[in-house]
Amino acid sequence: MGGHTVAVIGAGKIGELMLSGLLRSGWPVERLLATARRPARAQELADRYGVRVVDNPTAVAEADVLAVSVKPQDAAALLDEIGPKVPAGKLVISLCAGLPTAFFNRRLPEGTPVVRVMTNTPALVDQAMSAISPGAHATGTHLALAEEMFSPLGATVRVPESQQDAVTALSGSGPAYFYLLVEAMIDAGILLGLPRQVAHELIVQTAIGSAVMLRDSGEHPVKLREAVTSPAGTTISAIRELENHGVRAAMLAALEAARDRARELAAQV
Ligand SMILES: NC(=O)c1ccc[n+]([C@@H]2O[C@H](COP(=O)([O-])OP(=O)(O)OC[C@H]3O[C@@H](n4cnc5c(N)ncnc54)[C@H](OP(=O)(O)O)[C@@H]3O)[C@@H](O)[C@H]2O)c1
Repeated sequence: MGGHTVAVIGAGKIGELMLSGLLRSGWPVERLLATARRPARAQELADRYGVRVVDNPTAVAEADVLAVSVKPQDAAALLDEIGPKVPAGKLVISLCAGLPTAFFNRRLPEGTPVVRVMTNTPALVDQAMSAISPGAHATGTHLALAEEMFSPLGATVRVPESQQDAVTALSGSGPAYFYLLVEAMIDAGILLGLPRQVAHELIVQTAIGSAVMLRDSGEHPVKLREAVTSPAGTTISAIRELENHGVRAAMLAALEAARDRARELAAQV
């Protein structure tokens, strides 16, 4: 691994996750470049990771892979600057939520391979879920290279680009839904008289245990839930309340709203 030089263009929160994940996985620091808009941010990245922080044209000239991780609303200005300078055939990986690969292809030299990746913040602990889609000119080799870069950060899956807005709603924003749920359950523990710290500990470990069981058992979640739901027991009493309050319907509506918002944001750029 590490035969290619990767430049993280616009190394903010997500770009930094990529840099730190690649370094943790043993990617040689001399094969990484980063760019930033503010000099203070550039200095911070250089100090923290020992990575060479350069300007955008240098990154474009020197790197084999350009990982674009600016905010979607900054992408057009960035591509106006670097687009004409990107040598033909260089792989561009977009981490920008909502932006189609066609958006990049319109602003890059004809035939530039673009791969779109939607990752999520658990990349910070090497537990990301990254969904990878090829643009019009990306081949299996380009997808494999993107997978090589993102698999040290967690799991990867290939999806058609048409499913990326749904992926954004589900796994891109997904960590926030789990945190909200945990927050609500801690509040419930406090309502039941538990000290906050105890409620926190109980529910965080329960979340981790449940997640590991889901992943490692391969069982359907219904089966795992049924194993905790005895006849006339406590769990079914709670589940009746969850159903009464429309938690399942709320989840469906919430994800639809997130998907629609992803589409709206893409339409604005
Ligand atoms: N945060 C998430 O959970 C998440 C999850 C999945 C995908 N994403 C996607 O990841 C992308 C980045 O999000 P983020 O949360 O990491 O945003 P962010 O922290 O604001 O990072 C963007 C970085 O790009 C820099 N930048 C902007 N224009 C630039 C230019 N022309 N040249 C060089 N650097 C430039 C910014 O510099 P300054 O700091 O100096 O302004 C900033 O450091 C977004 O497109 C988002 O959709 C985010």
